[in-house]
Amino acid sequence: MWNNLAKFRFVATKLSTTNRHFVRTIQNGVQNESINVKTNESNRKSQIRHNSSFYSNNDGPRVLITGSFGQLGIGLANMMRQRYGNDNVIMSDIVKPTRLNNGPFAYVDVLDAQSIQSAVVQHSVDWIVHFSALLSSVGEKNVPRAIQVNIGGLHNVLEVAQRFKLRIFVPSTIGAFGPESPRHIATPDLCVQRPKTIYGVSKVHAELLGEYYHHKHGLDFRSLRFPGIISADTQPGGGTTDYAVDIFHKAWQNGQYECYLRPDTRLPMMYIDDSLRSLIELMEAPERCLTQRTYNIHAMDFTPTELASAIQKYVPSMKLSFTGHDSRQDIADTWPFALNDTSARQDWNWNHHFDLDRLCRAMFVKLSQLEPTSTHVNQEILMEAIQMEQMEQNKYDSLNDDRSILAN
Ligand SMILES: NC(=O)c1ccc[n+]([C@@H]2O[C@H](COP(=O)([O-])OP(=O)(O)OC[C@H]3O[C@@H](n4cnc5c(N)ncnc54)[C@H](O)[C@@H]3O)[C@@H](O)[C@H]2O)c1
Repeated sequence: MWNNLAKFRFVATKLSTTNRHFVRTIQNGVQNESINVKTNESNRKSQIRHNSSFYSNNDGPRVLITGSFGQLGIGLANMMRQRYGNDNVIMSDIVKPTRLNNGPFAYVDVLDAQSIQSAVVQHSVDWIVHFSALLSSVGEKNVPRAIQVNIGGLHNVLEVAQRFKLRIFVPSTIGAFGPESPRHIATPDLCVQRPKTIYGVSKVHAELLGEYYHHKHGLDFRSLRFPGIISADTQPGGGTTDYAVDIFHKAWQNGQYECYLRPDTRLPMMYIDDSLRSLIELMEAPERCLTQRTYNIHAMDFTPTELASAIQKYVPSMKLSFTGHDSRQDIADTWPFALNDTSARQDWNWNHHFDLDRLCRAMFVKLSQLEPTSTHVNQEILMEAIQMEQMEQNKYDSLNDDRSILAN
């Protein structure tokens, strides 16, 4: 089986500018191998040298992503294909693929253990990223289906991972906490977890069962509690935090947004690039660095009012109004305001790159590439944002080039 520790390598030549940004972080992450060890300049350079060779299609891990046509899966497949090679990342889902992105696809219904097993054997899979799920709002509307997919599907995937000794990532969520969890402080990794949604219950079940398989059978189970994820080019799949995506599209198109959450509803959020990078960093982290199997990660937290104010920099006439009571408010009211992610930062060097300002900049730059011209956006500010994003990427590019020089 592909040995992760021996293979901190980079496909620098294949990387887009966006992913060069990512490479720098991974290279920093690589230095996690020396966690708790004082490094000097020469051994720092030698670590960089050691870790700066290249993946090819033959030596990257082979990764199966379940539910890969959802909000997170498409971006993760792109990022992993650039990093590990196109053929090494197998997208799978129960929907007909519309964008195959030059790589393999397998029909995998996670309710059918045989279809998971076939894909694993046929494609010689090393890692599974298990994304298939019904999210919080959709899950409450169809509880039996959520139990089947989120709990039954997980059982099948864990069994296959155990049988074939795979490394497996299962995302958890802020929804795995509940109103009894500490909310007056940033919610810690270990505390009371009594979620009130079937989604949250299924995710606590996933955390506990994955950890059980790890302790009992040595399964290499890894999990992150993701906040609400914000992306421009993929649509959210029916969660409580979807408003934080919709508001950008509506601001761009109409200069106004009607929000289903109360103006003061504070929730943790993350830009998609940070969340996908965190997943890859955790999957590549040397096993000895992990002091736990499920980690909180945090980037920013805000209310609808605070987000709308930040958006007003780009859409000065932006108007925010509110619908009446929505069932998603009941869910949001049980979730943490912020997560304490100290362990992730200490153990495998997790660090977010996108705060609220950078999130807005990245979203408007992306929207300018994806949507017809907006009459609501301040074009001068948008041009500045495009230039700043470009400079940010160039900065990472040159840092990356410096590291390549060190490596040669
Ligand atoms: N998006 C977020 O804000 C967020 C936050 C925290 C955690 N997560 C977790 O990340 C994972 C991915 O989230 P997402 O936003 O991409 O979800 P999504 O709803 O956008 O996508 C889920 C995918 O699962 C697939 N699916 C449903 N039933 C299936 C089955 N029986 N077999 C195989 N596939 C099936 C769907 O077709 C869909 O493509 C989920 O496990 C979710 O709980 C997401």
